[in-house]
This record gives sequence, C-alpha cells and structure tokens, in this order.
Amino acid sequence: MAKLLISPSILSADFSELGAEIRRIDEAGADMIHIDVMDGHFVPNLTFGPPVIEKLRRHTDKPFDVHLMIAPVDPFIDDFAKAGANILTVHPEAGPHLHRTIQAIHARGMKAGVALNPATPVDVIKPVIGDIDLILVMSVNPGFGGQSFIESQISKIEALRAMIDQSGRDIILEVDGGLNAETAPRATAAGVTAIVAGSAVFKGGPEHYANNIAALRP
Ligand code: DX5
Ligand code: ZN
Repeated sequence: MAKLLISPSILSADFSELGAEIRRIDEAGADMIHIDVMDGHFVPNLTFGPPVIEKLRRHTDKPFDVHLMIAPVDPFIDDFAKAGANILTVHPEAGPHLHRTIQAIHARGMKAGVALNPATPVDVIKPVIGDIDLILVMSVNPGFGGQSFIESQISKIEALRAMIDQSGRDIILEVDGGLNAETAPRATAAGVTAIVAGSAVFKGGPEHYANNIAALRP
C-alpha cells in the first residue's frame, strides 16, 4: 500500500502564529495540511476562511487539505481555489446538490472530497464514487478538536475500504477526529490511507511535533 498520509489539523495550532506553525509541521513530516473551515452555523464553532488560507499558502508547498464545515458551499468554491486549496472536502448535508458541488470543485482544478458525519451512512458515497478523490470519515462530531474517537466508525472505514477497492479508483480514505497513537494504527488497519490529527500532533509544543507525527504511523 502507498505511504500513509498524515494531515495535521491546524485547529490545534497556535492561531497567533499560524504561518510558523505550518512551517514547523511541514518540517516535522506532515504530508498534507488539514485546514478546518467552520461557519458557526453548519457546526457550532467558528474558525477562518479564504483570506487566512491565502496568507498561509506561502509557508509550505505541501497540499492544503481543506475541510469545509460550512453551508452553503457553492458560493465560496472559487474563493478557496484562489486561496490555494488543493483538496476541498464537503459534507453532503451542506447543500442539496452534492454532485454539482463536486463538479464545481473539479472545474476549479481542485480534488473533491466528501465527508461523512458519524451518523451519515456510507450509501451517500455510492452514486458519486466515480467522481470523487477523497472520502473523509468523521470519527467525532465535527466542530471541535480534542474529542474521543467514536468506535462505530471502524466498521464504516472497513465498508468504505471495500467500496473503494471494488471501484478500482484511486481514492484517499481519510479519518478525522480523536486520532492518536492508539486509534490511528487501528484506523489504518481498517483501511484508511490518510490520518487527520490535531491535538495529538500539537501536544507538548514544537519540539514534539516530529515525534507526535511519527507516533501516528503503524
Ligand atoms: C473537527 C475537525 C478535526 C479536528 C480534529 O471538526 O474536523 O479536524 O481538528 O481534532 P483532534 O485530532 O484533536 O480530534
Ligand atoms: Zn477536519
């Protein structure tokens, strides 16, 4: 299997020095940078949007793995593309036309991901599996870092692994929420190819980032 991708979530970074934090996790071995965009409406928390992402773009060449927890999505796709997002992941609950949203993301030259909340069934993926580049399994309810991994998502990962293998397509299977040195290897064994981690990467301060990232690999 391809190398496991680690995508640290900057939700747990020091927001007063985000540029430096991104350079540190890049040097510490991050494969992608996970950027959680929240609108206080789709999820009960607020973060940042395209202007901040655009300012961060010059601090790393690693892909920006942008997780949108906003509704609606479509009016902002162009802004995220201009800001330098490489992957744009959306929740199907964020709008009535998931397929149109995926088309619009591709039309702007980005990869398209679909995120499944803990209670969202895998069936949502079936009609669009030929169209997407990434599936994000939420192993916590979205909105906050530092929550505990929801065990029922392991069997969901296994089901999605089987769907992806059957499709024969090159789709990243990513998991997000409550990943640490104990849960990450289990999610990897269940079939993910990318791990998002916020609190487990940033804990202890910059001198620990490299070890924290290494600890997520099996
Ligand atoms: C939650 C976000 C996650 C969050 C994960 O809504 O999507 O990316 O940062 O944080 P941890 O790794 O601390 O659970
Ligand atoms: Zn996320």
